[in-house]
Amino acid sequence: MSEINTRSEYEQLIQQLNEHAYHYYVLDEPIIADQEYDVLYKELLRLEAAHPEWVTEDSPAQRVADQPLDRFHPVEHALPMLSLGNVFSKDELSDFNQRIVKFLEKAQVGISDISYCAEPKLDGLAVSIRYQDGKLVQAATRGDGNTGEEITANIKTIQSIPLSLRGDDFPEILEVRGEVVMPRDGFQRYNQWALENNEKVFANPRNGAAGSLRQLDPRKTAQRPLAFYAYSVGLVQPAHHHQRHSDVLAWLKSLGLPVNDLTSVVQGSIGCLDYYQKIAGLRDGLNFDIDGVVYKVDDLAQQEILGFVTKAPRWATAHKFPAEEATTLVENIDVQVGRTGSITPVARLKPVSVGGVTVTNATLHNEDEIRRKDVRVGDTVFVRRAGDVIPEVVKVVLAKRPDHSIPFTMPITCPVCQSELHKIEGEAVLRCPAGLTCDAQLKEGIKHFASRKGMDIEGLGDKLVEQLVDAGLVHSPADLYCLTESQVAGLERMAQKSAQNLLDGIERSKQTTLPRFIYSLGIREVGEATAMTLANHLYKLATIMTASHEELILLPDVGDVVASRIVQYFANKGNIEVIEALLQAGIRWPEIIGKSEEKLPLAGKIVVLTGTLSTLKRTEAKQKLLDLGAKVTGSVSAKTDLLVAGENAGSKLAKAEQLQVQIVDEQWLLDQ
Ligand code: IVH
Repeated sequence: MSEINTRSEYEQLIQQLNEHAYHYYVLDEPIIADQEYDVLYKELLRLEAAHPEWVTEDSPAQRVADQPLDRFHPVEHALPMLSLGNVFSKDELSDFNQRIVKFLEKAQVGISDISYCAEPKLDGLAVSIRYQDGKLVQAATRGDGNTGEEITANIKTIQSIPLSLRGDDFPEILEVRGEVVMPRDGFQRYNQWALENNEKVFANPRNGAAGSLRQLDPRKTAQRPLAFYAYSVGLVQPAHHHQRHSDVLAWLKSLGLPVNDLTSVVQGSIGCLDYYQKIAGLRDGLNFDIDGVVYKVDDLAQQEILGFVTKAPRWATAHKFPAEEATTLVENIDVQVGRTGSITPVARLKPVSVGGVTVTNATLHNEDEIRRKDVRVGDTVFVRRAGDVIPEVVKVVLAKRPDHSIPFTMPITCPVCQSELHKIEGEAVLRCPAGLTCDAQLKEGIKHFASRKGMDIEGLGDKLVEQLVDAGLVHSPADLYCLTESQVAGLERMAQKSAQNLLDGIERSKQTTLPRFIYSLGIREVGEATAMTLANHLYKLATIMTASHEELILLPDVGDVVASRIVQYFANKGNIEVIEALLQAGIRWPEIIGKSEEKLPLAGKIVVLTGTLSTLKRTEAKQKLLDLGAKVTGSVSAKTDLLVAGENAGSKLAKAEQLQVQIVDEQWLLDQ
């Protein structure tokens, strides 16, 4: 690429980058490869560093403001942001359509089949974005419809929202209205990252979108995966004439604003119903949550005649999907014991279908939650299911509470081993302190020990672990290595062949690696990454076992809590006995000799992998990075040092560019 030396060339470069963003985000048809975009973007960064006086507000490098706000400022909407009426059935939909036909007839507009613009009802947060002379100048939440909160800096961090409009067919003032959503894949990745980094996880993508927009620090919002779809306009000055709502959407799209491509124009209530069914069928496969569809009379002159009823237009309605919530009876409340002894109350429910799935159990989380919601046996409760997460009890229907019901109290002793339960100050959960002597913890501990990321014992599934413990054959992970074929074959539904397969799997697992072994011990707060850190820095099991709190907190990503858990674990005599027995049984790993992590090329670097690699499998690439001393995480953030980008890299690459993270390709990794 030739050197750019003039301001007008700089401005052209911005236009070029914005045009590419439009092809990528709005048309979903990029016309250059990600790497080519990279080169242009890097050039932009270089120029802005060399000529700060040239920097314009709509430069893609200026999306993230670096100053957090002290509070949100109120913004009065020039035109109110309305809500929508609802229909829930075919009959209600047909009534809605009939009302419109009749209303228009009265106004002497006789049309039997109304054209509707049908759109998905996106489940996010409504925002209004104001462009003045084509530049994004203000953005606000809906608030109460009349006054919202100013979130301009946060909105600017969303890559798919143009900072300046395309072309020149725009009015002086254009308010674009639409929905900010957190795409499902981004939501999953974000929560995974949040879990690994002790940050708050979001209950669902809508909370994710809302929580991210209500962030006082735009640098944080910039790290959240958010998308935007325009669905209408507010103030347009001077007026810009269109015949149909669908024309308005096409116009917004031509100005560079993303419009959902599931939008389509349909005829009459039959057309609406077909659309509803089509979208309902696509719902699970979409990358964003929707809670229904919206029908809007397409003809703007007809909209004008129809007008409004209080806060909602007469010309539009939402057709909602059946609720993901239902009411049912609490038949019992049990408590479950987790791997680390955590006690979780669980409501056993009269089976009920929630959004198409039968639910029989719902978590009540912990003692504080159950007390706050005051859930009792015999209560009728609302249960909610959101995506793949465990169903939960939302609230009790007090009007249906039977007389003489008794508040639930948490047990004093462990329901499995009868040890007295403890609550540690500052923690919400009760715990059974018995460790591996509690059968419930033993079962969960062995499942963890044998899991794929741990000792990876083939053939040892959850059911079999339970059988082995119940039969009294296994009292600690070390006992697995003493099992005989006749013991295993004696278990229910266990043939000799599968017994031998299990023993072979157990035997094979003896040859392992130090990080796997540490992970498999199930030390609280020690996941795959921490196990790797411990192994790569301290090399020897004996060193890890005797490391002090002070030594441990010096390691990357080991904080106070993690260090305390490690020290506590190795201070427990029972744990030491198990480790000794495991070593005695023949568990071994290649020694890590003098492989000082500091000397590794990627020591301490936080690396993200994205896109499709052509020679390496994803797991191989990850292992290679780990071997080079890197910490591999799932999402790009301000902490990321390096992005390894394969083919078709998408949002992670864009995020990395925005945060100016170093980007390399697969070949680079192979060359290391
Ligand atoms: S139109 C006058 N279109 O639903 C019409 N709203 O209950 C105003 N929503 O606050 C809204 N997808 O957050 C419209 N395609 C869509 C929508 C949509 C989601 C939300 C929006 C609004 C709420 C209205």
